[in-house]
Amino acid sequence: METDKELMNNVKVTWRCPSNIAIVKYWGKKGIQIPCNSSLSLTLSNSFTEVEAQLSDKTTDEAVQLSYFFEGAVNEKFGQRVAKFLEDNREFFPFIAEKAITINSSNSFPHSAGIASSASAFGAISLALLDISYSMEGKEKDEAFYREASNLARLGSGSASRSMYPAFAQWGENDKIQHSSNQYAIEITDIHPTFRNMKDAILIIEDEPKKVSSSVGHSLMNNHPYAENRFKQANERTAELVNILKTGDMEAFIHMCESEALTLHAMMMTSMDYYLLVKPGTITAIEKLMEFRKENNIPVCFTLDAGPNVHVLYPKAYEKQVEAFINNGLRDTYKKVIFDQEGNGPTKLNS
Ligand code: PMV
Repeated sequence: METDKELMNNVKVTWRCPSNIAIVKYWGKKGIQIPCNSSLSLTLSNSFTEVEAQLSDKTTDEAVQLSYFFEGAVNEKFGQRVAKFLEDNREFFPFIAEKAITINSSNSFPHSAGIASSASAFGAISLALLDISYSMEGKEKDEAFYREASNLARLGSGSASRSMYPAFAQWGENDKIQHSSNQYAIEITDIHPTFRNMKDAILIIEDEPKKVSSSVGHSLMNNHPYAENRFKQANERTAELVNILKTGDMEAFIHMCESEALTLHAMMMTSMDYYLLVKPGTITAIEKLMEFRKENNIPVCFTLDAGPNVHVLYPKAYEKQVEAFINNGLRDTYKKVIFDQEGNGPTKLNS
């Protein structure tokens, strides 16, 4: 019979964690990954990271012995970031002093798609390693497990905290939202049928790597002339969005979603070290989409992440008309399109 310790030697778990797109944006952080304002996002389905984590005996005396592979090849740069994340948060991993960790990671979306992968990657890494810790300690993987995984994922990438739940997730302390926390995200469950089955078509306008990292972007909010007003606005909007999702007010959703996207980019353009991430294709796509909405009276809107790509959001009930428009009317604006939709949160792929 193998002892528990021997069993843990060969332990191998695989988790799939989706990416998410913020409707109310997190931009600006303080202390140890504490957001300056609360945010609320839609969890995706087809854009995900899969992480297989395996333990073995250590062969070196490094504090953290990690081999990190991305799509079959050693990825030194991201591996170093993950090793630092593990070292900084070693209290979550009782095995880290004795065990070497091998992580094999892959994304469902093409490497050069220009989709931010840190949310799904840190989400999946956190779930896989915390799963091992919970198993070692004989702990139930209940609601508290996902809350702790959200906390841990936040320490790797703030937006990753929101990938732990189906559909809509909120992160950041907010007076008006019960149980909201800076440490972890929570699921927003009171959703009107209007916002069930939302679709997100991601128009890849440019697929170059990010010009300015998220960390640098967040830090530029530190001495930003509009920071305080922005943080206040985002907190108010997060609470307002919870209500919009509950009452099914599509018009208010569209207005908030688009204004948030433009406000995020306005913050970048007005920081002391200003920069511009939108491209001509971004603007053409946005203008055409607004025209299409006006002419056809179809509830479709856009949002942006920290890059030039355009996320087109619409209810599933309108997919035929909107997707015909994306495939024809918008075709000149993007390199490729990824059709995604509201997802059910992370899943474990082996037992
Ligand atoms: O999770 P980070 O540190 O990469 O920050 C992401 C910030 C935005 O994607 C621009 C907005 C958000 O709330 O996801």
